[in-house]
Amino acid sequence: MNIVLMGYMGSGKSLIGRSLSKVITFEYQDLDDYIVNQEKKSITEIFREKGELYFRKKETLYLNEILNTYNNSIISLGGGTPCFSGNLEIINNNKSAKSVYLQTSLDELTKRLFVEKSKRPLISHISTPEDLKDFIRKHLFERSFYYNQSDYKVSTDQKDVDTINEEIIALLDNPA
Ligand code: S3P
Repeated sequence: MNIVLMGYMGSGKSLIGRSLSKVITFEYQDLDDYIVNQEKKSITEIFREKGELYFRKKETLYLNEILNTYNNSIISLGGGTPCFSGNLEIINNNKSAKSVYLQTSLDELTKRLFVEKSKRPLISHISTPEDLKDFIRKHLFERSFYYNQSDYKVSTDQKDVDTINEEIIALLDNPA
């Protein structure tokens, strides 16, 4: 089985993915890191030099590659992955993949992302926390349509990493 983590930028997909993989001794695959390794450029460079459309094509290509290559892995997606190019169907139609949406509040996302926005081409141009919050509110609303089609949902607000890991494990052990 593979466990696929989805959620907005800053929801903790990489942090949780890495730590959960140690707890349950799964391998860890981070789609953004995989793209960076394959393309030999940072995400920012790919967006700047080749554009978002190119990035989205590669994202779909490498998502398929990871799902078809690895087993017993936690796979952390990029924030936009489930929202483009039929990627959600690819994940949902993959019999050995279980998807988990890490749901984080608007306030928490704004707080986390304001200090890390320079690494993220979609928000790096936004200069005030108020503008960032407005952007995330609208963007999250659009993207929630996709995130809400995951197999499971875990709210991450006010929870430490261990608690989130335990909740994910409990959901996978006792599917509803
Ligand atoms: C994106 C999120 C990023 C990265 C790229 C696009 C998005 O990943 O894939 O900058 O569309 O939300 P993180 O969610 O890991 O920041």
